[in-house]
Amino acid sequence: MSEQTACVRTVAIRAERQGKGYGRMLMAGLEKFASQHRVKRLLVNAARDAVGFYEALGWAVIEAGGENPVLTKELRTRPQW
Ligand SMILES: CC(C)(COP(=O)(O)OP(=O)(O)OC[C@H]1O[C@@H](n2cnc3c(N)ncnc32)[C@H](O)[C@@H]1OP(=O)(O)O)[C@@H](O)C(=O)NCCC(=O)NCCS
Repeated sequence: MSEQTACVRTVAIRAERQGKGYGRMLMAGLEKFASQHRVKRLLVNAARDAVGFYEALGWAVIEAGGENPVLTKELRTRPQW
């Protein structure tokens, strides 16, 4: 979305594999990739049912109203040296 802010889209784990930690692993990889590209802040327009998933991973709701609540997570970027 900008040099330091990226938007997460289309996060999904196959129904029969949900609840086994794959979503957490997927997001950990995504956060690492984003940090390596100097992204400082992630945003997501979440499905209502998925808000608890993001909160469990340290995301915070910044817009609760509407069909798709908006959540954000600040990332630690890689040291520059
Ligand atoms: C949301 C989704 C990606 C989560 O993936 P997952 O592999 O089932 O999640 P994990 O097993 O890695 O769970 C990670 C943590 O989130 C929690 N969690 C997962 N789904 C949750 C939900 N719907 N509500 C509340 N908490 C949830 C788990 O309890 C777990 O917490 P813990 O590690 O503290 O016990 C998956 O359920 C999915 O694909 N859902 C349908 C599509 C969807 O809604 N995508 C999001 C669009 S924004």
